[in-house]
Amino acid sequence: MELMKAVIYNKKGSPDKLIYKDVEKPIPNDNEVLIKIYATSINAADYRPMKLGIIPKKKIFGADVSGKVESVGKNIRKFKPGDDVIGDLSDFGYGGFAEYATAPEEAFVLKPANISYETAAAIPLAGITALQAVRNKANIQKGNQVLIVGSSGGVGTFAVQLAKYFGAEVTAVCSTRNIVQSSTLGANYTIDYTKEDFTKNDKTYDIVLAVNGNYSLSAYKRVLNKHGVYVMVGGAMMQVIKTLLFAKLLSLGSKKMYSLYAKSNPKDLEFVAKLVADGHIKPIIEQRFPLDKTANAMRYVGEGHAQGKVVINVNGE
Ligand SMILES: NC(=O)c1ccc[n+]([C@@H]2O[C@H](COP(=O)([O-])OP(=O)(O)OC[C@H]3O[C@@H](n4cnc5c(N)ncnc54)[C@H](OP(=O)(O)O)[C@@H]3O)[C@@H](O)[C@H]2O)c1
Repeated sequence: MELMKAVIYNKKGSPDKLIYKDVEKPIPNDNEVLIKIYATSINAADYRPMKLGIIPKKKIFGADVSGKVESVGKNIRKFKPGDDVIGDLSDFGYGGFAEYATAPEEAFVLKPANISYETAAAIPLAGITALQAVRNKANIQKGNQVLIVGSSGGVGTFAVQLAKYFGAEVTAVCSTRNIVQSSTLGANYTIDYTKEDFTKNDKTYDIVLAVNGNYSLSAYKRVLNKHGVYVMVGGAMMQVIKTLLFAKLLSLGSKKMYSLYAKSNPKDLEFVAKLVADGHIKPIIEQRFPLDKTANAMRYVGEGHAQGKVVINVNGE
């Protein structure tokens, strides 16, 4: 039996229950790819279940991965050993906080050669979520006025850049320390939520993305243009629950209010990775940790103030 290092979560609780240890190295079945992981990154999809005491199927968190294909099952056609890949393991039991992981080929896309493993690992969940919010749910169009509430975290930093890429005029809502970051990423206007309440301004928008924070749905509706669209991506639990309960009712007129449930999708991952490779957008990596310090990284991101993405470097590349 071959061993690998991994960060195991098999007891409910805080990040202190994330244990770095030797476990059995996974073996791919006929329909799986085995990758050697070089980098992984942390998402709400890791720290929120951890806080609720939910144990992932593989007892290892980590959905976003990048690495090299080590071996493939006999039914795998898309990849071969040696290929560099980016993966989203969120539909396949997670398992990214480890030296190796297995998943079906739908979890992976080829990594563009000109982006590093750590840049690649920062893309999947945050990039796909932001893309599905602005393009699929909000149907963003060139010239749209877009308000992004919570522009400075993993999803928000992608959302600002994607909205700009699609030709929108972006107003970013973030705290004082993130104003420069949002402007640098291309936001046309910024609102510091510690000093100004955008719900009290007269300005209205074609699209409002609620990525973080907690405002009333009626306030969000008020800042929408006549045919405006509100998309609830995340934020405080109250914001999520209120949208799930009342958005349909509030969408009866011309203004529409939706919740996003992002779904892993290799085509979307490929799309965002290509935008990164072509230099149109870039993942913002705030901090890097080694695999044995994953518990510290999860604690930090779980506090809710990460300025972009936090990456775990694995296998030393
Ligand atoms: N719908 C879906 O399918 C889906 C998919 C992925 C993620 N999500 C959700 O999307 C949300 C964002 O995810 P994420 O990965 O981007 O989280 P994150 O990286 O942890 O977000 C942290 C950022 O949020 C900012 N923030 C905190 N409180 C804020 C407030 N009141 N107003 C504005 N900004 C605030 C923080 O900056 P400051 O503290 O300096 O303000 C920090 O930069 C989470 O709630 C997550 O669960 C939903």
